[in-house]
Amino acid sequence: VLQLTLAVIKPDAVAHPLMLQALHQKILENDFAIIRCKDLVWRKQDSERFYAEHSGRFFYQRLVEFMSSGQMRAYILARDDAIRHWRELMGPTKVFRARYTSPSSIRGQFGLTDTRNTTHGSDSVESAQREIAFFFPDFCVEEWMQKE
Ligand code: CMP
Repeated sequence: VLQLTLAVIKPDAVAHPLMLQALHQKILENDFAIIRCKDLVWRKQDSERFYAEHSGRFFYQRLVEFMSSGQMRAYILARDDAIRHWRELMGPTKVFRARYTSPSSIRGQFGLTDTRNTTHGSDSVESAQREIAFFFPDFCVEEWMQKE
């Protein structure tokens, strides 16, 4: 079934032009349609708001600092089963796990640390809705879904 997901290329990857290009290419090669794409920089409070569910975790401060440390690129991607396919392409969050279990995944190849892990992807239909609205407040998922 056709699905939308939010994908983000994080500051560690955007900082490297070749990596950004490689990841953009990977999206196209994996049959995603790019519905929206934008480059942006978060203020610290955007980062805190987006990751509020992690406040209190030991990595929260470093995550918040990192995600507001430079440019990011956000995409709305469409595909059958887009959420699962993008997460599979990314590989596991933790870099050691990504290296060993999914060495050809994005994080397996390019992840630097558990925080600087190159990309983000929504983990459910509900979070995709919330995250798309967060990054693209003018985009209406229902309206888009109704178009042929
Ligand atoms: P993301 O998919 O954006 O969702 C939450 C983020 O928190 C995650 O990617 C990582 O960047 C970060 N994160 C999750 N777990 C850890 C951890 N154990 N140590 C450091 N950072 C983490």
